[in-house]
Amino acid sequence: MKASDLTYADIQSIVAEDFAIMDKQVFGSLNSKVQLVMSVSKHVIDAGGKRMRPLITLLTARMLQDSQSQQAMQLAAITEMLHTATLVHDDVIDASGLRRGKPTANATWDNATAVLVGDYLIARSFNLLVGFNNLPLLKLFSDGTCDIAEGEVLQLQHQHNPETQEEDYLKIIDGKTSRLFMMATQGAALLQGREEVLADLGAFAYHFGNAFQMIDDVLDFSGDAAVMGKNLGDDLAEGKPTLPIIKTLELLKNTNHQAYDKLRIAVQTGKVDDAHELIALVQSSGALDYCKSRALSETQLAQQALQNLPDNRYRTGLYQLTELASARLV
Ligand code: IPE
Ligand code: IPE
Ligand code: MG
Ligand code: MG
Repeated sequence: MKASDLTYADIQSIVAEDFAIMDKQVFGSLNSKVQLVMSVSKHVIDAGGKRMRPLITLLTARMLQDSQSQQAMQLAAITEMLHTATLVHDDVIDASGLRRGKPTANATWDNATAVLVGDYLIARSFNLLVGFNNLPLLKLFSDGTCDIAEGEVLQLQHQHNPETQEEDYLKIIDGKTSRLFMMATQGAALLQGREEVLADLGAFAYHFGNAFQMIDDVLDFSGDAAVMGKNLGDDLAEGKPTLPIIKTLELLKNTNHQAYDKLRIAVQTGKVDDAHELIALVQSSGALDYCKSRALSETQLAQQALQNLPDNRYRTGLYQLTELASARLV
C-alpha cells in the first residue's frame, strides 16, 4: 500500500478489537450519581473525535507486548477521558462554540457547568488510575496533568502579547498538547514495567505532539470548518499568538510596516473586524509554509525515535499515524 492511500481507519484496524472495547469504556467508565455530569460527558464523548491518544496507547502496548491487555484498554480510555476534559475546559477558555461538529458544552449548557464537568472527568480519570496500583504510572499522570494545566495557563499569559516568541510557543504546546501524547505512550510501557523504553517513547510522543499542534494551528488559518468540526479563525479572534502569527509578525516586521502594525494591534486587542484581510495576510506571508516545515521536522524526529523501538506492525502503525497527522489527513 502506498503511504498516500493510507487512511486513519487502516491504522485503527491494526488494533480493531482493542479499539472497539476501549471506545465503549470511555463512556462506560463514567459512573456519576449526578445525571447532569453524565449528560454533559455523553454529549462530548458521543460527538466522536478521532480517539487518537487512546489509539497511540493501544499501538504502543501491543508494540511492546503483542497480547490483549485489559489494563492497556482501560488506560487508553483514561487518556481519552483526560483529553476530553482538556477540550471541555479549552472551549470555555477559548469561548469556542463548535467541537466535534456539535455545539460545545459551554454553548449547550454554560461555562460553569462545562468547567465543573471537565473537573469531574479529570477526577474520575485519577479515580480509575489509582485502581492500577502502579505508583510510577500514577506519578506520570499526575505530573503530566500539572504540565497540561501549566501549558494552558502559560498560553493565557501570552494571550494578546505580540512579542511572544517561537520558544514561548514551544513551551506552551509541550504542556498543553505533547505532554498527553507522552503520557499515552509512556503509560503503556509503565503498565508492563518497561522503564528502558521510556526515553525513546517520550521523544517519539513529544515530537509527534508538537507536529500535531503545529498543523492544528496552521489549519486554524487554512482548514475547512466542516472537516475539522470546529470553528476556524478562533486563534486570531482570541489574540492567541500561535506559530503562524508569531512567524507572520516576524516576516512582516522589516518588510511591511503597515501590515505588521495591523496584525500586531489585532493580537493585542483581539479586535478582528477585518478578519478576512488578516487571515489573507497570514496566508500570503509564507508563515504557513514555515510552520508546515517545522511540523515536518518534528515528525521526522518522532519517526527517528521510533527506530529504537521494537520493529513490528504496531510500530509501523505509529509511524503511519505520524505521516497522516503531518499531512493532516487525520
Ligand atoms: C484537538 O485534538 C486538540 C489539539 C491538540 C489540537 P484532536 O484533533 O485530537 O481532537 P479530537 O479528539 O479528534 O476531537
Ligand atoms: C489545544 O489547543 C487544546 C488542548 C490541548 C487542551 P487548541 O485551542 O488549539 O485546540 P482546538 O483548536 O480548540 O481544538
Ligand atoms: Mg481551542
Ligand atoms: Mg486550535
